[in-house]
Amino acid sequence: MDWTAYEEEAIAAVVAAASETDLDHVRVRVLGRRSELAQALRGVRDRDTGILLNGIRGRLEAAVESRDETLRREELDRRLRDEVVDVTLPGEQLPLGHLHPITQVRRIVEDAFLGLGYEVRDDREVETVEYNFDKLAFAPTHSSRSPRDTFFFDETHVLRTETSPSQIHILEEKEPPIYMVSIGRVYRRDAITATRYPIFHQFEGLAVDKGITLADLKGTLLHVMRALYGPDRRVRFRTHYFPFTEPSIEPDVSCGICGGVGCRTCKFSGWLEMGGAGMVDPRVFENVGVDPGRWSGFAFGCGLERAAQLRHDVPDIRALWEGDLRVLRQF
Ligand code: PHE
Repeated sequence: MDWTAYEEEAIAAVVAAASETDLDHVRVRVLGRRSELAQALRGVRDRDTGILLNGIRGRLEAAVESRDETLRREELDRRLRDEVVDVTLPGEQLPLGHLHPITQVRRIVEDAFLGLGYEVRDDREVETVEYNFDKLAFAPTHSSRSPRDTFFFDETHVLRTETSPSQIHILEEKEPPIYMVSIGRVYRRDAITATRYPIFHQFEGLAVDKGITLADLKGTLLHVMRALYGPDRRVRFRTHYFPFTEPSIEPDVSCGICGGVGCRTCKFSGWLEMGGAGMVDPRVFENVGVDPGRWSGFAFGCGLERAAQLRHDVPDIRALWEGDLRVLRQF
């Protein structure tokens, strides 16, 4: 056996191995249990042959190990080169939304009233006839009690038509003085038009204390209208009727779309109704066991959609409910 030739051939094969699998095959062939070298080592009888063969085995093992290391390093280099991630590149842009215009207006209203020391309240949308109508002193014949105007679940349950039932709830829950604003959805059987939608939001204010007058109501409404629309918009009050206020008024804000000249949104009047208001009717106080001789108060209710329309000059209320991003992104 020519062991020098064996060693040279084996070393050449180790160096030529192009991958770790290749190298493993070579290793098995020249160093494995059934290799000529291993078999010869098992049959060694004399010292010199033992030294010779062990020397070859040691050198071959070292060669395999060093080739293995080289191959691993080359593989690592290749991956570092091919699978490189440039951490200095800008990341993927995450699309960022913003609050819906109704939510924005809602927060402005909340802020304005929190600034006046009011508590902000949220109430049920499914109401009883008792709270939606009876305790608010609606006459038995009032047209809102009709299923043509109001969504009824059954004889006694409705989708609230206004946030006014909150007045009753808080008056039953706590003693005056009360300063609250209740905000949420209300429902009416209206056909959808540029200014009406069967679902909308209202904010309802109630102040009950000693010596509250209509002047306090006017000042409060003016404050809130200015918070919403700025000092440029004009505000006017008209007399009106509501079952639960006496006297009742309706606050109007000048139309910002036409500047008060008259357009489709303001029905060519130059003014937009903001909702209703008035002094709490003594019958309401009596219905909840509050002494009208001791306490007086005012209440008002306004639409949030209307407020958002006015703030942003949105001519059509439907735009606020359709969720069309081309529209909403503008606010
Ligand atoms: N609830 C009335 C409406 O929806 C508005 C209102 C609230 C009027 C409070 C007076 C007092 O039309």
